[in-house]
Amino acid sequence: MRDIVVTLVLLAPVFVSSFGCAKTDPPQLPDERSSGLVTVDIDKRDPDRLLRFYFGSYAEQLNSVLVDSDGRYRVDLEALGRSGFSLEDADADGNIDWDELSAFVVETYYQARRIPSTIDSLRTTIGDWHDENWFRISVAGVMTAATRDVYVRRSAILAALRNFESAGTLVYPDSTAFVAEHRGNDGVTEYTVMLKRHDGLWDVAAYGAEGLLADSTLSHPKSYTVPTQCLGCHYGKRLFEPEKSFPGTAPRGPGGERAVLFPTVPVAAGDVALLDEHRRRSDTVLGLYATLFVSSLRARSVDDLSDDELHVLQILDSREGR
Ligand code: HEC
Repeated sequence: MRDIVVTLVLLAPVFVSSFGCAKTDPPQLPDERSSGLVTVDIDKRDPDRLLRFYFGSYAEQLNSVLVDSDGRYRVDLEALGRSGFSLEDADADGNIDWDELSAFVVETYYQARRIPSTIDSLRTTIGDWHDENWFRISVAGVMTAATRDVYVRRSAILAALRNFESAGTLVYPDSTAFVAEHRGNDGVTEYTVMLKRHDGLWDVAAYGAEGLLADSTLSHPKSYTVPTQCLGCHYGKRLFEPEKSFPGTAPRGPGGERAVLFPTVPVAAGDVALLDEHRRRSDTVLGLYATLFVSSLRARSVDDLSDDELHVLQILDSREGR
């Protein structure tokens, strides 16, 4: 008899979990936490990723500050304060709204993320993007009327392509950096940067022509505040030119031509369709790095390619049934 009781007790959690159609109650929070908890309602579509980005910018352990119970978010202001950055419920209504959150983030983000304060210190941290280990594309796109030279390490694209095999989408490794130089007639007018964090999201930054961190980009055609106005296009679903029409010709924009200017390599329709890089918003990266990288490899002689490079071409060929 005793054996049967023990067996039933042991089985009980199995029944609960395997027949777990009963909706579980939101987790009970320890009393000592509840005092600092206020709701966060920022009135945005898809708040989950935004809140993970914002609060993940301050806390190593996201769940130590942000509590998600069934899509209702609460933030532990005391725990957040212990990270050295105090978010206040300014109107004391028990809710953090978008105005309160965005003012706090714009004020403290660079410091919280320890973003290098100059373009030279960024270069020391991530390496010189002008050296041969980095891949460059040049584009006349939507973010600025200037031409953008965008750099990313070749090894990061190779890794993203290898991830494509298992994940079915391009995922860049932690610490990948994208550096975009915006070029006017007199050289670089500003820099915009994305740095991949350990939580899978990207930090963003802008530097002025003198190489100092800037709160926002130049107003050509529109100025964007970091980080709050950087996420809309990168997290959204809207398609932009010239990536949308690529490899076809894009219509001209208000500021002039929209085109991928470099590299000018033939692209295989099969690669464009398989990677479908811009439309899929792979990893919230919007440019066509993998597509153009693969096209550049295909334009070279096979004897010239490294084993890693050959391997990714084989991955694509087998996915395309070649
Ligand atoms: C109007 C929409 C829009 C906004 C706002 C925007 N971006 Fe972008 N971003 C794009 C598009 C489209 C691309 C790809 C084409 C290109 O490079 O111009 C891109 C590319 C990038 C890249 C190269 C990596 C990639 O995803 O291709 C970086 C770095 C970048 N943006 C940083 C920023 C930063 C920093 C901000 C805020 C200051 C920002 N972006 C705001 C649309 C936008």
